[in-house]
Amino acid sequence: MAASPSRDAIIAALRTVRDPELHRDIVSLGMVKDVAVEDGRVHVQVELTTPACPLRETIERDVRAALVAIEGVRDVAVEFSANVRATAPRGGQRPVEGVRNIIAVASNKGGVGKSTVAANLAVALAKAGARVGLLDADITGPNIPTMFGFPAGVLAREPGGLRPLEKYGVKVISIGFLVPKGTPVVWRGPMIGSAVRQLLHDVPWGDLDYLVIDLPPGTSDASMSMAQEAPITGAIIVSTPQTVSLEDAMKAVTMFEKLGVPVFGIVENMSYFIAPDTGKRYDIFGHGGAREAAEELGLDFLAEIPLEIPVREGGDRGEPIVVAQPDSASARAFDALARAVAARISVLQRMAS
Ligand SMILES: Nc1ncnc2c1ncn2[C@@H]1O[C@H](COP(=O)(O)OP(=O)(O)OP(=O)(O)O)[C@@H](O)[C@H]1O
Ligand SMILES: [Mg+2]
Repeated sequence: MAASPSRDAIIAALRTVRDPELHRDIVSLGMVKDVAVEDGRVHVQVELTTPACPLRETIERDVRAALVAIEGVRDVAVEFSANVRATAPRGGQRPVEGVRNIIAVASNKGGVGKSTVAANLAVALAKAGARVGLLDADITGPNIPTMFGFPAGVLAREPGGLRPLEKYGVKVISIGFLVPKGTPVVWRGPMIGSAVRQLLHDVPWGDLDYLVIDLPPGTSDASMSMAQEAPITGAIIVSTPQTVSLEDAMKAVTMFEKLGVPVFGIVENMSYFIAPDTGKRYDIFGHGGAREAAEELGLDFLAEIPLEIPVREGGDRGEPIVVAQPDSASARAFDALARAVAARISVLQRMAS
């Protein structure tokens, strides 16, 4: 039987494994945290920059391939851990205590599915193992409580006031926790700005890898003060496939660019319809519009989410589709979106360091 290989031989082999996105080997990237060899049994611990890493399987496969090729290796165990880095604040920005990255979900138009995308993105990131928060910045029309199944005004009578409530692994906060259903919230611009500021800074978030922010439609006071105040890592623009909606998406992109907030890309929601009885796909609004628009603008096309009745039902019932029907086409699309966004953030961090 061949002698057990040395630790150095294992590390040398790991130097041939490259991170497919960063194009450098995993040893010099500092991703290899621990290597142990005993009797030909190798244990490697690899630290990823996000638990939602889309390349986890590829890296594991490459590590295995590199190690089993070494003489004397009988068994390979690859263990993954994750350490999400924090976005550094730019001039004038106040970091949110404990929060490493902020993802803003926006669109210039109402009703395109921002809240649906924000809710499912947050839950999908949490399912992947990340510590996640969700801030409902739609101060005058908060929808997030309903989408998570929290009764309106759930915290109205509590002496402690507003605090995040946890569900589906996500810490959620919304003005709707204080206001009974059907009560119109009529606030002027400056008040909205200060409400958003309080939701960000005066709330015990704890340690979060990602805080997802559901913005109200348009270039409203809430979005503006949010983007100027908090170190937003990047924004996701939600659009439906119709041309008008895309034109509106462009406006949101322009707004974030003016504010110096990176735009991660466009999500096309209600991309196509899946008939519940036949499973057949219908391109109701045409197909490929958002992808083309993203290309034209040099933006990433992050995901296409189908129009499926259970998405709306889940939203109304307080059970996001990624929980209610994790194998549905839309839930899979949301999972892919979460991985794409997490990967974008990892690459941004790496470029900044
Ligand atoms: N992919 C989808 N399939 C089916 N229904 C959807 C989908 N996306 C969103 N909806 C439904 O469309 C409606 C509007 O979605 P949502 O509230 O998320 O939009 P919004 O952009 O946040 O709206 P507003 O601008 O009012 O904040 C909701 O009833 C939601 O359940
Ligand atoms: Mg909304």
